[in-house]
Amino acid sequence: MKEFKLNNRTNVKGLIHQKTIDYLETEEEKKNYIEYRDKFDKASNFKKIYDYPIHIDLEIDNICNFACSFCPIGQPDTKLGKWYQTKKEIPKEKIFEIIDECKEIGVNSIQFSLVNEPLANKNIFEVLKYTTSKKFEDVFIVSNGSLLDEKRALKLLDTNITKIQFSLDAFKASTYEKNRFTKVKKPGLYEKVKNNIINFINLRNKLGKKFPLIRVSFIELEENIDEINDFDKFWSSKVDAIHYQKLTDYKNKLVNFEEFKDKIRCNMSNFRLSIKADGNVRPCCVGYGEEILVGNIYKNSLKDIWHSKVFKDFQKMHLDYRSYENPSCKKCLEHSNLY
Ligand SMILES: C[S@@+](CC[C@H](N)C(=O)[O-])C[C@H]1O[C@@H](n2cnc3c(N)ncnc32)[C@H](O)[C@@H]1O
Ligand code: SF4
Ligand code: SF4
Repeated sequence: MKEFKLNNRTNVKGLIHQKTIDYLETEEEKKNYIEYRDKFDKASNFKKIYDYPIHIDLEIDNICNFACSFCPIGQPDTKLGKWYQTKKEIPKEKIFEIIDECKEIGVNSIQFSLVNEPLANKNIFEVLKYTTSKKFEDVFIVSNGSLLDEKRALKLLDTNITKIQFSLDAFKASTYEKNRFTKVKKPGLYEKVKNNIINFINLRNKLGKKFPLIRVSFIELEENIDEINDFDKFWSSKVDAIHYQKLTDYKNKLVNFEEFKDKIRCNMSNFRLSIKADGNVRPCCVGYGEEILVGNIYKNSLKDIWHSKVFKDFQKMHLDYRSYENPSCKKCLEHSNLY
């Protein structure tokens, strides 16, 4: 068992926010973005909780063409994984309603992926275009990149989203295809995904577009850790940022945190609400948060959820270093590679 030292879930390499500011066209856009990042930093560092969620995750559906080994979708026999075996989808009209409410209450950033593949959804481009027309500071998706052929790439570029993250988690094809694979294993998948990303970057540049900024991500695992330098060297010159992510292991407990449990707190609910494909609202984007219900978009407004006693108590619990009091949070902190 490891010793106590709490790390961030994600370490970012690359000045993606400075780049965003540099590339935004008007002084007002730059000012709004700087203010948004300032609020985000204050909220994530427990300095201030704002009157509204700064960020919303909206899981447009719960469908993915992959079944990665570490993801709930790739673990269909577990309690978390079972939920993904039946299709759920938020109707387009409801999504537009939510986007309108987000704008009304002051939300700055929206992403349209939680546990799903956003590029597999037929409405995704229309939804993204509608969202960017409302002038949020950040609109982005996280994707496995496998479906991004030239036709989709052109449609995606036309949406004017600010960022996209492609999850790779490996440098070698053999490692990639061990953990990240389609439901029916396809040889050559890694090369296809890598080429899709490189073609997308080239197309963006050829069209003279600055956005979306592009990042790739890498979950640090025992089996890929010796590839991290090659991964870094290869992608650093091509993308705008690299995200090194910590694993949440849904199968194995990684730490026994009894001795330091009152020195740990989770900041997720300080700045975000996560809407699942069945309309249930959760306090975070991590799998264990799926066990924590704070509202439902068919019954409650986001504003009411944010100001509800249940949610305020949940925020206060974390603020006071009592994250362990919620059984799902306790499990999450014991199963995440954060120490
Ligand atoms: C669930 S995926 C959804 C978006 C898209 N399908 C993809 O894979 O990029 C969102 C992010 O969560 C990461 N992820 C999945 N399972 C994880 C786990 N057990 N621990 C940490 N991150 C995980 C993925 O690598 C990806 O970057
Ligand atoms: S591609 Fe993303 S959502 Fe799909 S199984 Fe892999 S990590 Fe999960
Ligand atoms: S489950 Fe709890 S501890 Fe884990 S990320 Fe979500 S809010 Fe934080």
